[in-house]
Amino acid sequence: MRADELREMYLKFFESKNHVRISGSSVIPQNDPTVLFTTAGMHPLVPYLLGEEHPSGKRLCNCQKCIRTGDIDEVGDSTHLTFFEMLGNWSLGDYFKEEAIAWSHEFLTSSEYLGFDESKLSVTVFEGNESVPRDDESIAIWKKLGIPEERIYALPMKDNWWGPAGETGPCGPDTEMFIDTGKDLCGEDCRPGCSCGKYFEIWNDVFIQYEKTKAGEYVKLAQHNVDTGMGVERTIAMLQGKSTVFETELFTPIIAIIEKMSGKKIDDNEEVGHAFRVIADHIRSSVFIIGDSQGIVPGNLGQGYVLRRLIRLSVRYAKKLNLDIGFSKPIAECVIDNYSHVYSELQDNREKILAELVREEEKFEKTLNKGTAELEKVVDNLKKHGQTMVSGRVAFRLYDTCGFPLEFTEEICAEQGLTVDKAGFEKAFKKHREVSKQGADKAFKGGLADDSDATKRLHTATHIMHKSLRNILGEHVQQKGSNITASRLRFDFSHHARMTEEERKQVEDMVNDVIQKDLPVAMEVMTLEEAKSRGAMALFAGKYEEQVKVYSIGDFSMEVCGGPHADRTGELGHFRIKKEESSSAGVRRIKAVLE
Ligand code: ALA
Repeated sequence: MRADELREMYLKFFESKNHVRISGSSVIPQNDPTVLFTTAGMHPLVPYLLGEEHPSGKRLCNCQKCIRTGDIDEVGDSTHLTFFEMLGNWSLGDYFKEEAIAWSHEFLTSSEYLGFDESKLSVTVFEGNESVPRDDESIAIWKKLGIPEERIYALPMKDNWWGPAGETGPCGPDTEMFIDTGKDLCGEDCRPGCSCGKYFEIWNDVFIQYEKTKAGEYVKLAQHNVDTGMGVERTIAMLQGKSTVFETELFTPIIAIIEKMSGKKIDDNEEVGHAFRVIADHIRSSVFIIGDSQGIVPGNLGQGYVLRRLIRLSVRYAKKLNLDIGFSKPIAECVIDNYSHVYSELQDNREKILAELVREEEKFEKTLNKGTAELEKVVDNLKKHGQTMVSGRVAFRLYDTCGFPLEFTEEICAEQGLTVDKAGFEKAFKKHREVSKQGADKAFKGGLADDSDATKRLHTATHIMHKSLRNILGEHVQQKGSNITASRLRFDFSHHARMTEEERKQVEDMVNDVIQKDLPVAMEVMTLEEAKSRGAMALFAGKYEEQVKVYSIGDFSMEVCGGPHADRTGELGHFRIKKEESSSAGVRRIKAVLE
């Protein structure tokens, strides 16, 4: 079974269980400063898991593009995919464990669907702790469905709990489903969840019934929810009898291109294989990040920084395979061609994706050349003074400011008979990592869209400003990104020139005028088609028949949006633009506040 068939079969299966198929969201979260990327299908649904009504009802299913980078400094691990697709079904205060588990079991084992051999299926459940009891209910349900006790494992929170670890938000115990690959056990403790690769996790049913509070307590939510996630790449690998996702049709054409360019084979040896996997994964992920409807470009902060690291790491591995700069282009073309029938945004953004990738490769090559020259100076200086070791501080400076990897420093030094103080490098690196980790970790854990009153007011101000920008600068203005915290809004939009003083003032005046009028903010649910025909602004590229929420501000603006918002514009206070600057080519960024 190919990925195309799996997506369709999954969604049809859940439609037959009265779920409504909804579109996936952007891989760049909107209006949610707590995460850099969409890390799971549940992420865009957080407000609905907490009780907000979803316009399509209580049973939903979809396929979501996800990015998980974990720790930025560890990007490069070949066993995990940075980009992956997650199929999911949701109950928003509707069905619970009994139905969710029975449907997972049916879809996995019935010959009408995936038809996995039931004897190869193992499951894990939450073993309980002082706050939340053991999930005996799920154990009983699995047993009733025919899974014997010895293939049901009760495991601790670190294995069987989904939620914003260490932060607040909706969470709960989960039950995970694994396929036994038939490999030998790696030791006495080998079990589902072990990293040796014997057990392959393909699906996770989360029972979201708690909210973790700021005090660290788990409080029962008013509604119980189900959030599930099936990994497309992993599941087809198992269905096709492959031992890695890189052997499926989603990757083999990419691997073939790298083989042709390098003259090497992915199975030549472990080092070569690792380089192949990193390049394939990172370029594929970068294509989806740049090619998103809210796509971003390489930069030094936030998502742009993660993207930059992904591309630069690929360049490093490409050098190991002696690939020339520009290697990302044929790979990216292949990804775009293979996915555009599912994600048309990739085709729409083809030129931008290819240009940004190659531009970043070239930039990094320049940096590497600069780093080499810098290092040569260091080497000369050391030799002059009869020293034989490059200090950790210097090696780290080369890494941090020139993007010059430690291995490169070591290789070049070794040629000159010098060593590098690795321990010193690690120390400097660790210190830096504590700082950079904050951003990356947040990106991994998922989190809550902040719905404080201050944030809601800024969200409403964003809608008014968006419309004002279109009125004043022209209809070409389109939202390219929005990020709101309780203290400011940040808004990226398409526009080719710096705004003049006069334009800034006109926008401020128009927004403040709407605020003064104390217009009501109203929400209606309608189909996307109706919203568009009534002139609503919609970033959201969903299906026309899909139900969406539309927020109107008096008769000033109308926008498809998930909310929440202030009730009336009079609550907003005084609007002021603090900064207007370039964000990337053809995109401007405004930072503004309410005073
Ligand atoms: N949110 C769950 C996961 O991503 C389903 O594993």
